[in-house]
Amino acid sequence: MFRSNERKCFTIHCAVHTDIDRILITRQQIAARVRDMAQCIAADLESLAGDGRDIVLMPVLTGSILFVADLIRELPHKIKLHLVTVSSYPGKSTASQGASLQSELPDLTDQHVLIVDDILDSGRTIRMLRDAVAARGARSVRVCVLLRKKIPSALETPADYIGFDIDDEFVVGYGLDYDNFYRNLPDVATLRKEALR
Ligand code: IMP
Ligand code: MG
Repeated sequence: MFRSNERKCFTIHCAVHTDIDRILITRQQIAARVRDMAQCIAADLESLAGDGRDIVLMPVLTGSILFVADLIRELPHKIKLHLVTVSSYPGKSTASQGASLQSELPDLTDQHVLIVDDILDSGRTIRMLRDAVAARGARSVRVCVLLRKKIPSALETPADYIGFDIDDEFVVGYGLDYDNFYRNLPDVATLRKEALR
């Protein structure tokens, strides 16, 4: 049986919050923005759905998992999900090491594809995926990112839906990681220097 005071009965060692420097975007701000974005996306999907073709949401693992989980529950359309893995920031790196797809895409002939990623940084991931999706025959390709860094490479990469523009800092939380940690932080935050080792 669940007891409401159970959470207070133990001490948390290695809590995710101890390494946080600043919270940039709170969970409440994220929730409100995701709802707004979903409304825009739903309106566009409505016009796409008119041609009877399948709509495929393509979340980029692993960073987009929280974002896409919240986003899809706000979309009323019949959509397929196709998860893709792109390797770009292996391990403790905080700079893109190039983007490569970890498995082949399915045949996407005549389908409408919406790529969903956590953050637009160098733009390599989104540019590579957009090309790969188009090469698999998609009828249309759109891109949705929660965050975009205010740097030329990101700003010059076409994207249709953008949650927040942020300064050029390394951020974690709400799915974004450093060395695969901090994804479970509900807010978007920067890390203390000592944590970035
Ligand atoms: P891009 O290919 O350089 O645009 O990078 C996209 C991928 O790099 C994202 O999907 C993230 O997984 C990762 N990334 C870029 N910037 C950050 C960051 O500030 N924190 C965590 N991951 C990041
Ligand atoms: Mg990623």
